[in-house]
Amino acid sequence: MTTVKIPDGHGNTLTLLEVDGHYYPNSSADVIRGIRDVTIRNDDVLICAYPKCGTHWLWEIIRLLLVGNTDGEIREKDELHLEFVANDVIEKFPSPRILNTHVQFHQLPQTVQEKKCKIIFLARNPKDVAVSFYHHHKNLPMYYHYHGTWDHYLPLFLEGKVDFGSWFTYMKNWEKEMKNHPELPFLTVMFEDLKEDSLSGIKKMADFLGVKRSEQFYHAVSERTSFGQMQATKGRLLKEHGGTSIVYRKGAVGDWKNHFTVGQSEMFDQLYREQMNGCNFSFRYSTTDSVP
Ligand code: A3P
Repeated sequence: MTTVKIPDGHGNTLTLLEVDGHYYPNSSADVIRGIRDVTIRNDDVLICAYPKCGTHWLWEIIRLLLVGNTDGEIREKDELHLEFVANDVIEKFPSPRILNTHVQFHQLPQTVQEKKCKIIFLARNPKDVAVSFYHHHKNLPMYYHYHGTWDHYLPLFLEGKVDFGSWFTYMKNWEKEMKNHPELPFLTVMFEDLKEDSLSGIKKMADFLGVKRSEQFYHAVSERTSFGQMQATKGRLLKEHGGTSIVYRKGAVGDWKNHFTVGQSEMFDQLYREQMNGCNFSFRYSTTDSVP
């Protein structure tokens, strides 16, 4: 394990942890290496997503669906985030556990394949992911020590010099593995679909989880997990210097248009075409939308 400082070519560095050739945020190498040995249970639900695709949102929806009650205490997904929580803590956690991780398929706990727990794969328009990740890196200076501008940062994202590596590699690998494992129960959820019609998304997830609740309850989950509600309740837990929430920042589709220049957008599109050629993921709010 090494702490590395990735230079952006403009005098700034992004501080990451390197474990066995992969980049991670500030955690423990033992915890990261221990992920493979987590004992999966049949009734675990596993959320897999590249960072900043909305894991906090999905975790809360699934938690409420499983608990069947929207008035309980405030809980955070980080209590079951595989990269941060030691195995002995995860092992003691009562079922049902909603595990979540940003690692690649081949880095998942080995018993996933044997137990065939339900896996929800979450994806988001990569331009919005890049913007959200930029703010994440800037707003957590105590971990990342990153002080560059958006222009300085974008190449780091495109080259995969960020925690969990390249978005392109991550997506291509996941698509391949989901195809290679038809025996495993996967559900793919797109951030943009959930944003446009959260009620339908919530019902689809309930179906996948084998949970049956009242129509009224699904409405309550949708309301309770709206961006405004989550920002007001859970957003209080982790705030940046100015007092605004770090995780619950904007929660919008298309915020990339407020950050990318026309040139950056075209360059991104070109790279997307080269890298994702043959990939079947389609993003409703296409990467080729023009910058206003
Ligand atoms: P932005 O930075 O674009 O606002 P993750 O949970 O994977 O860290 O992703 C965080 C992103 O999901 C942030 O995006 C955050 O605002 C957004 N998000 C969190 N809760 C949300 C919600 N209830 N509705 C919409 N977006 C949400």
